[in-house]
Amino acid sequence: MGKALLSVDNLEVGFETDQGLARVLDHVNFDIMPGEIVGLVGESGCGKTTLARAILGVLPQNSARISAGSITFQGRNLLDVSKKDLASNVRGKLISFIPQDPLSSFNPVFTIGSQIMELMKWKSPDAPASKPFMRYNKSRQDSDKKRVLDLLKTVQLPDGEGVLRKYPHEVSGGQRQRLMIAMALLPEPRMIIADEPTTALDVTIQAQILKLLRTVSVERGVSVLFTTHDLGAAYEICDKVTVMYAGQEVESAPSSKFFSNPKHPYTIKLLQSLPSHAKDIQGIPGQIPSLTNAPTGCRFHPRCSNATPKCSGERPPITLLDNEHTLRCFNSDTVSNSEETT
Ligand SMILES: Nc1ncnc2c1ncn2[C@@H]1O[C@H](COP(=O)(O)OP(=O)(O)OP(=O)(O)O)[C@@H](O)[C@H]1O
Ligand SMILES: [Mg+2]
Repeated sequence: MGKALLSVDNLEVGFETDQGLARVLDHVNFDIMPGEIVGLVGESGCGKTTLARAILGVLPQNSARISAGSITFQGRNLLDVSKKDLASNVRGKLISFIPQDPLSSFNPVFTIGSQIMELMKWKSPDAPASKPFMRYNKSRQDSDKKRVLDLLKTVQLPDGEGVLRKYPHEVSGGQRQRLMIAMALLPEPRMIIADEPTTALDVTIQAQILKLLRTVSVERGVSVLFTTHDLGAAYEICDKVTVMYAGQEVESAPSSKFFSNPKHPYTIKLLQSLPSHAKDIQGIPGQIPSLTNAPTGCRFHPRCSNATPKCSGERPPITLLDNEHTLRCFNSDTVSNSEETT
């Protein structure tokens, strides 16, 4: 296997809260290869956005505590990179971001065009590395404008000039998300973090946007970290899926194996909870734990029908089942999934 573009190793992140320290990411391990589209899947509150924000270096400074681990991107530990360097050379350049709600990411009082050109001033591939008072000369503006119009066509917004003259509220939700994809690609990044990019859209538009995101990323060889609570969405676009439960990654596998041969008891339950014609939806008994007082060992053990005393004593190590399929469970041998998930 080649070298990962991004490697999150042993990452521990907590938040100071009135109830004490919420241990939100508990020694998380996670890799993305160049050009790979990886789904980070888990229920609300499992830490997907926290992981995305840690990678982007935008965790809230007053409350977040990174107490262990590293985030290696192109060979550099981003946790050691200066804030200035991160802001001018990494975030929005090498790693770009597609938010959940594009409307709140645009400023309502400026046209889309002026906001995209402001982005290009700082983040275009031709922009010089950090200069506080940079001139944006005409020839660079012209070549950047051409780039923008080309990319708007790529994301299937054909009347680019017309779109650029509009205000954010004058285009539809789906068009705004297409704009977000274009804006994420414009700096020619190596990786895009898309944090639940389609949850604000209706289902048919969701499918179009996911397909578009996959097509443009594959064409350009850009890696995508796609967070979602929606396994169906992950199935649509991901090469690989990593499942998180309450701040711990529990299983990671290529999509084909993940959906046909899941091994972790939580993954199996999660797949069973998908709506299906064949049978009734099955929920997962019990509740997501509080992260200020998280269960010891494997955090899923209080809800796991396979749990043994060992599961509360220590966190299962990472086991490599076969090529790229990893699992953190002491009892996977005793978990039967074949008849349960079909
Ligand atoms: N600034 C903060 N201060 C305290 N706790 C926080 C903060 N941000 C997140 N948390 C807590 O961290 C946990 C993980 O939150 P996070 O937003 O990462 O989850 P998520 O998986 O993205 O959920 P969702 O699917 O709802 O977006 C939650 O319990 C949340 O309450
Ligand atoms: Mg989130």
